[in-house]
Formats: sequence, structure tokens, C-alpha cells
Amino acid sequence: MQERTLILIKPDGVCKSLIGEVIKRVEQNGFKIVALKMIRPEKKKIEEFYEPHKGKPFFPGLVEFMLTAPCVVMVAEGKNVIRRVRELIGERVPGEARKGSIRGDFGSDGRRNIVHGSDSLESAKREISCFFSEEEIFFYTGRDWLNSEPG
Ligand code: TYD
Ligand code: MG
Repeated sequence: MQERTLILIKPDGVCKSLIGEVIKRVEQNGFKIVALKMIRPEKKKIEEFYEPHKGKPFFPGLVEFMLTAPCVVMVAEGKNVIRRVRELIGERVPGEARKGSIRGDFGSDGRRNIVHGSDSLESAKREISCFFSEEEIFFYTGRDWLNSEPG
């Protein structure tokens, strides 16, 4: 099923120069990036984004961390993209994440773990609308068109 997911490169990912690495892995796994930008979000925006974790002990530290440098947000589209991107990202704690996953390869700890990906259709919808208006999400034909013979 064609879906959309929200991918967010966190401050540690940006500071470690991993923007290209994350985008490369998403694209090389066959997903189409349909929206993309760098942002320096306000505290209110991060609190809204992580609203499901509000009240948990790690919440204030998480919000503080998310404000330490810019983030890159993007929308990726494709078949089962929500589940597949979560697999590409790996488990939250890098030491427990699969080698070859983004967190397994580059994460520092259970907070500074490079990247976020939506975990369900419902959260993808909410998280995309946190950062993008409909006009900022593009429609174009992807690899099928690129691979076709010139007419
Ligand atoms: P969570 O939804 O459990 O993980 P995931 O990012 O894989 O969806 O947690 C969201 C983020 O909150 C996590 O990436 C980093 C932060 N966090 C902490 O800083 N400490 C914690 O103990 C937990 C559970 C999460
Ligand atoms: Mg989560």
C-alpha cells in the first residue's frame, strides 16, 4: 500500500553530517522524497511533535536536546514506507539496534539516535501535518518514469 511517513533527522544527525547518509538510505531503498526542509523549531513545536511522550521522565531532556541544533524534516512515500523506514532506522537504543541500521551504525545513545520515523499511519499523518502544509508536499512520478526509454 502506498503510504507517507515523516522522517526527522535530529540535531545529532545534522551535527554528525549524516543528512546525506539518511537521505541516501531512504532513496536507495526505493522510497520517494516528496517534501524536505531544514528547520530550527521552536520549543512549542517540539513539544507538539513529541506530545505522545508528554509527562514521561525523559520528556524535558528530549525537548532540550531537540533544540540544540537544526533538524531536517522530510516526507517519504512508497509501499509500506512506515514500517520499512522504521526497519532502516533500527531500535531506539543504538547498542540494541541492528548493524546496518541507521541507529546501529551511527547512534550515540537512546536519546541521541540520529533520526525519527513515524510508527503508524495515524502518527505519520499527525507528524507530517506538524511540519508541512499540503502545498509543501510534491507530486511527481518516480523511478518508473526515470527508467523508461526516451520517447
Ligand atoms: P520512542 O518512541 O520510545 O522511540 P522511537 O524514537 O524509536 O520511536 O521514544 C521517542 C524518543 O524519545 C527517542 O527516540 C528518544 C527519546 N527517549 C529518550 O530520550 N529517553 C527514553 O528513555 C526514551 C524511551 C525515549
Ligand atoms: Mg516512537
